[in-house]
Amino acid sequence: MTTVLKLGGSVVTEKDRPETVAEERLDRCAAAIEGTGDLVVVHGGGSFGHHHASRHGVTAAAGSHDAAAAVDIHGAMKRLNDAVVAALGRHGVPAVPVHPFSAGTRDADGALEFPHGQVETMLGEGFVPVAHGDIVSHAGEGVTILSGDELVAHLAAALAADRVGLCSGVPGVLDADGEVIDRIDAVDEVAGALGDSDATDVTGGMAGKVRTLLELPVGASIFGPDDLAAFLAGGTPGTLVAGDG
Ligand code: IPE
Repeated sequence: MTTVLKLGGSVVTEKDRPETVAEERLDRCAAAIEGTGDLVVVHGGGSFGHHHASRHGVTAAAGSHDAAAAVDIHGAMKRLNDAVVAALGRHGVPAVPVHPFSAGTRDADGALEFPHGQVETMLGEGFVPVAHGDIVSHAGEGVTILSGDELVAHLAAALAADRVGLCSGVPGVLDADGEVIDRIDAVDEVAGALGDSDATDVTGGMAGKVRTLLELPVGASIFGPDDLAAFLAGGTPGTLVAGDG
């Protein structure tokens, strides 16, 4: 049973302090993941990716042909990936890095192509591939941002994942009263409640997340770090975003 898990940038980094790993939260996540098999981890950018991306004016749609900008953004994400892989390794998780810039690309319409054979083989060999939000080469745009959410959705579909979880900085999608919404079947059900993310986020905040997940063939759970162990044990904490299938 394959699980695709995103560790949000606001979980693994201190989102408002440039290039700062949230060591303790990351360690707690790694402890919760310990012992989970058939797992793909994707982490977000947090204070590593978003600061560099916005400084260079690069988003998922608007690209750059500046190699220095590409190296900057990708380099920061690799540093964060090293920290996530190392934290998982300290808990005995057989984590190995996957850098999407080396494999993924977008066509002129923005459609993502990401060959998943490498990730599938890693899984088959007992590794836990750890990919991340990144830049990708984009026909006509140079490089654009690939969010961890988009990569989760892509890999979940390509690998026919049975379970999808997004561990984020909040305990789920919150309604106007700050209560966790149990289940979302359509984005217009919750349009009023989905504000923008407050820290620098070039990839669309919670509304973008929900929209992406609604297109998946399986349901996806959005929950906070305290519920990660419950999710990995088979539960559906937080908000269940019902898939399309
Ligand atoms: C962003 O990934 C990646 C870059 C900015 C390079 P995400 O959009 O998935 O990151 P978080 O989880 O929101 O921080």
